[in-house]
Amino acid sequence: VTAHSKFSFLEADRLHAIPEWLERRAGRQKLAILADENTAEQCTPLLDAIGNKRISEAELIVVPAGEEAKSLEIVEGVCENLLEQNYDRNTLIMNLGGGVVTDLGGFVASIFKRGVSYINLPTSLLGMVDASIGGKTAVNLAHSKNQIGRFHFPKHSFIIPEFLKTLPAGEKKSGYAEMLKHALLEDREQWDMLIQKGASLVGLEEIQFSVGVKEAICERDPYEKNERKKLNLGHNIGHAFEALFHGRGKSRSHGHCVAEGMYIESYLSEMKKGLDPALGKQIRSDLRQHFEPFALGPNDSPELLRYLMQDKKNKSGKMRFSLLKDFALVQFDVEVSREEVDRALTRYLQER
Ligand SMILES: NC(=O)c1ccc[n+]([C@@H]2O[C@H](COP(=O)([O-])OP(=O)(O)OC[C@H]3O[C@@H](n4cnc5c(N)ncnc54)[C@H](O)[C@@H]3O)[C@@H](O)[C@H]2O)c1
Repeated sequence: VTAHSKFSFLEADRLHAIPEWLERRAGRQKLAILADENTAEQCTPLLDAIGNKRISEAELIVVPAGEEAKSLEIVEGVCENLLEQNYDRNTLIMNLGGGVVTDLGGFVASIFKRGVSYINLPTSLLGMVDASIGGKTAVNLAHSKNQIGRFHFPKHSFIIPEFLKTLPAGEKKSGYAEMLKHALLEDREQWDMLIQKGASLVGLEEIQFSVGVKEAICERDPYEKNERKKLNLGHNIGHAFEALFHGRGKSRSHGHCVAEGMYIESYLSEMKKGLDPALGKQIRSDLRQHFEPFALGPNDSPELLRYLMQDKKNKSGKMRFSLLKDFALVQFDVEVSREEVDRALTRYLQER
């Protein structure tokens, strides 16, 4: 994908490329593998089948599955485990899992012995096209997401679509929403193709496209000073939905929240950036082919607004969104008022 190719896209019959890479690029490093309960069970067999001693003899550290594993307590547990097994500064952590494992393992790698290296083997679609790319690592603080974290870049990522065979369909759809976002940022034909295919049919080629979009943006602006903010499209409202549902103990997938975020933010794009209303309408009806609207009451708007006001992306108390002027034309740092968000939410509630 990039000039110095930090990615390998591997079909199931080419996994020997992993030990070859280890030999070449991590000769003396001691390998540890981090997985969650599910990926330890369902994804390690594919690695074991490579028949490589270094991989099969590496310490396997298993954390609970789910967002709760992104905590400082688990970070401490993983570090203690590494210490007990005599891992030193010359350690290579292999993250085998979805975004939770790559965020957690990347963060551990950034602090253990003041920093060791890591590689990602994302096993969820969201992990492949989004979480494992770009060097953001983090854990949560109480219920606030990603409050403790660092930029720490993986040494390499191996994207292996074969892992997706065991991924639950709902989880696949979550990654699919981020792929739609990448298409919206870049290329209308890609969007149309993804809408036509749906989550169940996306494969290596579409994943490659998506990784290319995110990686190119992150390479130009790794620390999110400018252009990387484009990737927040759909995420202000998306994160507010996630927080709202989380607070009520009925969580919705990240991707579904982002899809509804893109839906509502298309109204804001029309209002603030002159997005052609016909195009806005097309984007919304395309999204509706794959994502159900959330059942919200009119009284939910104030709560959503409260979460929106707490967003990390805000500056001096003003909400800042990334909005569309056109397909593949995104503007970031657009200041949006409460009234404008309220109007967009009202349209959302009326239109369903
Ligand atoms: N660092 C970033 O830039 C970035 C970007 C986007 C999201 N994220 C983070 O990613 C996390 C979400 O990632 P996710 O959606 O991958 O969640 P996840 O890691 O919790 O994976 C979802 C579920 O699928 C299971 N799973 C994963 N791969 C599997 C496989 N191949 N077979 C069977 N089960 C499998 C997991 O065990 C889990 O139960 C969030 O914490 C989010 O904050 C980070």
